[in-house]
Amino acid sequence: MRAKMIKIDPADPDRQAIKRAGEIIRSGGLVAFPTETVYGLGGDGLDAGSSSRIYRAKGRPSDNPLILHIARLEDLYKVAAQVSASALRLAQEFWPGPLTMIFPKTREVPYETTGGLDSVAVRMPDHPAALALIRAAGGFVAAPSANRSGRPSPTMAAHVEEDLGGEIDMILDGGMVGIGLESTIVDLTEDPPAILRPGAVSQKMLSACLGRVEMDPGLEREDGGLRPRAPGMRYRHYAPRAPLTIVEGERERVAAYVDSQVREKIQQGQQAGVLACEETKDLYQAGLVKCIGSREADDTIARHLYQALREFDQEQVTCIYSESFDTPRMGQAIMNRLLKAAGHRIIKLPDGGDRD
Ligand code: TXA
Ligand code: MG
Repeated sequence: MRAKMIKIDPADPDRQAIKRAGEIIRSGGLVAFPTETVYGLGGDGLDAGSSSRIYRAKGRPSDNPLILHIARLEDLYKVAAQVSASALRLAQEFWPGPLTMIFPKTREVPYETTGGLDSVAVRMPDHPAALALIRAAGGFVAAPSANRSGRPSPTMAAHVEEDLGGEIDMILDGGMVGIGLESTIVDLTEDPPAILRPGAVSQKMLSACLGRVEMDPGLEREDGGLRPRAPGMRYRHYAPRAPLTIVEGERERVAAYVDSQVREKIQQGQQAGVLACEETKDLYQAGLVKCIGSREADDTIARHLYQALREFDQEQVTCIYSESFDTPRMGQAIMNRLLKAAGHRIIKLPDGGDRD
């Protein structure tokens, strides 16, 4: 049976719909719901069976822990064995919001939810429908992104239906999400605190609150000796079906290089997609060019990235080229996802400069 799709007003969701969805989760079922970052696949996070169902529905490796979503700060103490002063400061500053924190877990939290770890990831989303659902479901909703494992995270209900419609009970359709990339994950159990996954709450914002905050060195390279500390960041992820290559350098040079590659592919009978932005889209002459936003307002790029990757899949392109989006605010998060989608395939073109 396909999941029941119910449209809701994200700012003021229908109470009956939320109540039904809450009952489904309380009785061990799965409901996909919108958050401010991406759609989540929710189940009862304190119930081992529900968490196991989430892994099965997504086809997710069982050692990749889930994020536990709460709606009230006091509920944190039921699942976190220790809450440091720094954690509390971040919660006060950024919750509800796109920030996930890692805590030592209490016995209430089953190992099925934490992928066998003694720590638990907790977040309070900034979305009225998500918060209402968490309350209706009993307060503790385990929710990974609602995509089939390995696919780009869903930024609208149709993406969830496409990936998981046959596996889950209900989808709450609250329209397109606001941010479009998953929450920042920060580990405060070590000193200095480390960002395990960059997101809309940036390193700069965290440092302004806590002082020194590091990026997990394991994020930097894929094949280095260091493994990312968040298990989920170790998998190839966020990936479109066609191989993606990032091309970095001066705008005109990038466009000329991409054009030449795309023309070559087209001659071989392939279909090529290009990820570009407002500032550069007119420089490209070949291939299926998608403008995903503006560098000036880089939240627009974050918001449309996953959608564009999914569209390329549907349009059956056989290869994708993207410029690098090392923009000031969302750049760390955008490039982290883009590099993963590309399997770290990046071509750095030399600058033209005076040598020409
Ligand atoms: O924005 C988000 O965080 C979305 C929405 C739905 O809230 N959720 C999300 O969940 O992105 P998911 O499961 O797709 O990603 C969770 C990430 C994984 O990389 C996982 O390994 C990491 O969080 N994680 C969870 N618990 C952890 C823990 N105890 N220690 C380290 N990493 C953890
Ligand atoms: Mg995910």
